[in-house]
Amino acid sequence: MTATAYRLTQYARGGGCACKIPPGELEDVVRGLLGSAGPDLLVGLDDGDDAAVVRIDDRTAVVVTADFFTPVVDDAYDWGRIAAANALSDVYAMGGRPIVAVNLVGWPLDELPNELLREVLRGGADVAREAGCHVAGGHSIDDPEPKYGMAVTGLADPDRLLRNDAARPGLPLSLTKPLGVGMLNNRHKQTGEVFPAAVASMVALNRAASEAALAAGCTAATDVTGFGLLGHLYKMARASGVTAVIDAAAVPYLDGARDALAAGYVSGGTRRNLDWVRPHLQSSVGEDELLLLADAQTSGGLLVAGEIPGAPVIGHFEVSGPSTVRVA
Ligand code: CO
Ligand code: CO
Repeated sequence: MTATAYRLTQYARGGGCACKIPPGELEDVVRGLLGSAGPDLLVGLDDGDDAAVVRIDDRTAVVVTADFFTPVVDDAYDWGRIAAANALSDVYAMGGRPIVAVNLVGWPLDELPNELLREVLRGGADVAREAGCHVAGGHSIDDPEPKYGMAVTGLADPDRLLRNDAARPGLPLSLTKPLGVGMLNNRHKQTGEVFPAAVASMVALNRAASEAALAAGCTAATDVTGFGLLGHLYKMARASGVTAVIDAAAVPYLDGARDALAAGYVSGGTRRNLDWVRPHLQSSVGEDELLLLADAQTSGGLLVAGEIPGAPVIGHFEVSGPSTVRVA
């Protein structure tokens, strides 16, 4: 078989989402473990932010994160690019710039050719190069289910971070990429249909969005990944002690996302996201709209408390009320 004869998504157990451990379960697992923020650990485990941040001196902080997942698309090179953009995103989501990354690889040596792994790594290297981030080695294991991602180290100004606990009442809420890649990836896995706009969105770096947020004086942001817009916004609002209000009609979606929903391509992860947020949610829109808002994203955009050029405002933050997220 040629490399293109392999459909990589068929080697993943998950349903086209990034197969994260559900948010509620993860919080139970890590509760009480080490990593609480202290004088120099500026961002630790407390609020489930995107990356850990350690202050080195008054001008320098180190940003550390790791992210990897099973194939979300069949094409090896695209999967590599997506996984790298997604891993780098957590550095951008903290207001940092990535400096060096190492590859994390699980590969079924007996089932998939090494040339295909080479394509995955080539994709990752190309995106890291675009980000100005070195790739230096990594770690690989023989694994029945392929997995790829990166551990990324970056630098940031300790006084200019984008935290998920710094949203304030009155600030607008901006989103820098359309939603819907979870539904489209799920459809791609089931049918083999390719959605180039979804791939283009997932391989796009969040660098420009991060720089724009810092330039605009923003201090709060997070990236939208496996927990969906609702899940990540809920975490941000809860950590900040505010209520987030979403104007559902203002939220941008990729073409085909609504069709994919109507055709039933909703991942289990997306339903778990909605179930997790529902007790804290007040909504005047239908269930379909909520599923779209909860769609598990891979390498999604930044959610920014503030306004930045080119990104639609999709809501705002209010003083904490009876609900943490309100959809209108
Ligand atoms: Co993140
Ligand atoms: Co992450």
